[in-house]
Amino acid sequence: MKLGVNIDHVATVRQSRGGDEPDPIMAAKICEGAGADSIVCHLREDRRHILDADVKMLKKSVTTRLNLEMALSPDILDVALRLKPDQCTIVPERRQEITTEGGLDVVRYFKKITRAADLLRQKGICVSLFIAPEKPQITRAAEAGVDMIELHTGCYANSRTRSAAQKQLKTLSDMTHFARDLGLTVNAGHGLNYANTAPVARINGIEELNIGHSIISRAITTGLQQAVKEMLAIIRTAT
Ligand code: PXP
Repeated sequence: MKLGVNIDHVATVRQSRGGDEPDPIMAAKICEGAGADSIVCHLREDRRHILDADVKMLKKSVTTRLNLEMALSPDILDVALRLKPDQCTIVPERRQEITTEGGLDVVRYFKKITRAADLLRQKGICVSLFIAPEKPQITRAAEAGVDMIELHTGCYANSRTRSAAQKQLKTLSDMTHFARDLGLTVNAGHGLNYANTAPVARINGIEELNIGHSIISRAITTGLQQAVKEMLAIIRTAT
């Protein structure tokens, strides 16, 4: 099972000060050095974290695979067609949302999605659709001719009871097999963390998990001791 690391929230911290640290490009290098199989970033319409310049730099520096999450807006599609990341994952996007809340509605927006996917694939970009683990969405994704899908694991991650989580895991497993039988590569992600990832990683047929928030959060707690020690060393040496 592969791991794609979403580095959006490194950029979120940078944007909170408007400066240039922490640097998402350096973060991507560290993730790759640690064994990540791909780097994921989401160029949102409001540019609240990742900026166009970041995608441009990541395209140059990522040595594994760059997976650009994007909504179907003409502006973002233009950026993707110009910068040609290895992969584009089409996601729904609402400006007011804190994070991607649901899956893409491929049934409703079939024509628009197919048109964009065709343009991206003509440029040699691998196309994935971020969708709910539901048969109609998966069927339409296969009909749209995309290479892969990413199953939304939010319902599993938000399960409040063990039995609800088991039910969601079964759905994810069943829908993985359903999608693979239609010729699709299957990835999964959203809301996965250090407590709930293992059961999803055990599902046969899922090729890659895309994880962001929990890894970046963990990096803060695991790295904080070192960061404080380094600053104390500077202060103590100076005084
Ligand atoms: N996959 C997709 C398509 C996403 O939009 C996101 C969130 O940006 C993730 C995976 C990662 O979700 P999380 O940050 O909850 O790990």
